[in-house]
Amino acid sequence: MKVILASDHGGVNLRKEISELLEEMNIEFEDMGCDCETSVDYPDYGIPAAERVANGEFDRGILICGTGIGMSISANKVKGIRCALVHDVFSAKATREHNDSNMIAMGERVIGPGLAREIAKTWLETEFLAGRHANRIGKIADYEEE
Ligand code: RB5
Repeated sequence: MKVILASDHGGVNLRKEISELLEEMNIEFEDMGCDCETSVDYPDYGIPAAERVANGEFDRGILICGTGIGMSISANKVKGIRCALVHDVFSAKATREHNDSNMIAMGERVIGPGLAREIAKTWLETEFLAGRHANRIGKIADYEEE
């Protein structure tokens, strides 16, 4: 599995924590930044990262900003992306099982590093259940084609 990781200035610390987790899990990843202490605009990082998942260069993506909200909104504008805003372990598991989410977004101002690690680990290790859920995400894909 190949993972793309990105944040704005509001998510730099949590992004570092998640990059350490990916190293510990021996998961191949690229960290797209930002390398910033000054303010940047989250779509400038979230959209390019989402495009690299949508085009198949990466299997999954993890996005971090202050709230996770701006990153999730941005990523979900990219066709083929199902980005879940996740701040609890139950949802991290459920969004893989039910939504086959290919990206998650988290907020550094919302949760601490320990929970963020648990969320990312659970999400990375959980498989899609398919079946009736595949039909549902197929309807989203159909809408994208309209
Ligand atoms: C940046 O101040 C903040 O707006 C951003 O990190 C994010 O929370 C937006 O949704």
